[in-house]
Amino acid sequence: MSADEVYDVIVIGGGPMGLSTAYECAKAGQKVLVLEKSVFFNQAGSSGDLVRMFRTAYTEDFMATLAYQSMALWDDLETEAGTSLRLMTGLLNFGDPTYGAGGPEGTLKGPIPNLKKYGLKYTELTRDDIEAQNPFQNLPDDWVGLDMPDNGVINVTLLTRTLFRLCEQLGVKLLQYAYVNSVTPCISDPSLWLVGGLLGSDKGASAAPNQFTFGAHKIAITCGAYVNHILYPSFCFSLNLQIWEMVFEYYSIDPTISFPKMWFQFAQDTSATTPASNLFYGFPSVPWGPPNLARIAVDSATRTISDPSERSHSDIPSADLEHTRQWVRSHVRGCSADPVPVFAGVGLQTNVYDNMFVLDYIPGDLMPAAGPQREKSIAVFTAGWGMKFVPLIGKVLKELLVDGGTTAYDISQFKMDRGEGKIIRDDAVQGTDNLVARANFSSQRC
Ligand code: BEZ
Repeated sequence: MSADEVYDVIVIGGGPMGLSTAYECAKAGQKVLVLEKSVFFNQAGSSGDLVRMFRTAYTEDFMATLAYQSMALWDDLETEAGTSLRLMTGLLNFGDPTYGAGGPEGTLKGPIPNLKKYGLKYTELTRDDIEAQNPFQNLPDDWVGLDMPDNGVINVTLLTRTLFRLCEQLGVKLLQYAYVNSVTPCISDPSLWLVGGLLGSDKGASAAPNQFTFGAHKIAITCGAYVNHILYPSFCFSLNLQIWEMVFEYYSIDPTISFPKMWFQFAQDTSATTPASNLFYGFPSVPWGPPNLARIAVDSATRTISDPSERSHSDIPSADLEHTRQWVRSHVRGCSADPVPVFAGVGLQTNVYDNMFVLDYIPGDLMPAAGPQREKSIAVFTAGWGMKFVPLIGKVLKELLVDGGTTAYDISQFKMDRGEGKIIRDDAVQGTDNLVARANFSSQRC
């Protein structure tokens, strides 16, 4: 089998992470191809909806450090793009100061040492301050807040389009409807991979998809929740993903008292509610979204799946919707007395067991037939709460793949083989087994 065309780097997955990776590789002079199985700017994966948090408030040192390092990289990207990609509203974390560690978000005051370490501003607030400055009500007397100005709302729509534009300007080839079904080592060139699949189009059912085979020296797999659709057929292992079907809801807010900031509420779980979580978060209405609609949601998911094929397309998890709605009714001023979300949806929040992501090479022992020359030639990123790191992760993947395998950033917490086997499994997750035949490593010729 011969390659239609050979690239230095092929990126599988054309969301913000894939485009950021492609952009960084192209800036470094690499010939780059991005393969997106759906259309660019789709809502099918981990980057759906309009907004994400850019935040520096982390209890864990390694996350705080990466968030701090990301600040300058966002500024650089915005300069290169000639446009602002974030609305720096600040972030208000508030709630029960005794809310314990071990939850997915750390503790309320946990970030303070890291904010001090990096010289980031913050103001501590009382319950009365919080209610006076924000449209919240009926908060317990002993609740406190932490207001952090170096945070803001990521314009996901513009970010993705901007990265696409920057890639185009640097000559990156961007293919949509490009469904990858095999990654195989090229026998005659020990440094080359063959990436095969089907290329469809939007020209209707009569236009049959064409088969493609592209060659690549390095591969970045950035297709988030869909990662096992690449890994299992080609490498016979899967990642144990815990994908939250995460509900988001947009509520109509009185425009005269709109939310000034992004916010996050920390409070103990209550067993009397479903879900039990009382972590809520929200965004102000944004100029790139519908006017006077604020996104509010619970930071948990009653429905967790291991593959996007298990996703329910018939409903939005009603318990999560209702739990948020009741919280809005009790605690948000400026909504109707019995608020109903104006629109709602479900995003795929792709985590592994520790609520983090994978950012790592495929270890050599998971692709033994590939040979030693191809070690460290394929890197994987699995989404999660990663949008705030988009410029940083693009840079890291470029450093891993293009700059000889070392990165200046500490990504040791995101290794694929961490957690004593909790991430890697050698069977298929539901949905990946029958998608395509397993590739036969030894039979490929180029
Ligand atoms: C985050 O961006 O880290 C985040 C946003 C909403 C809920 C939880 C986490």
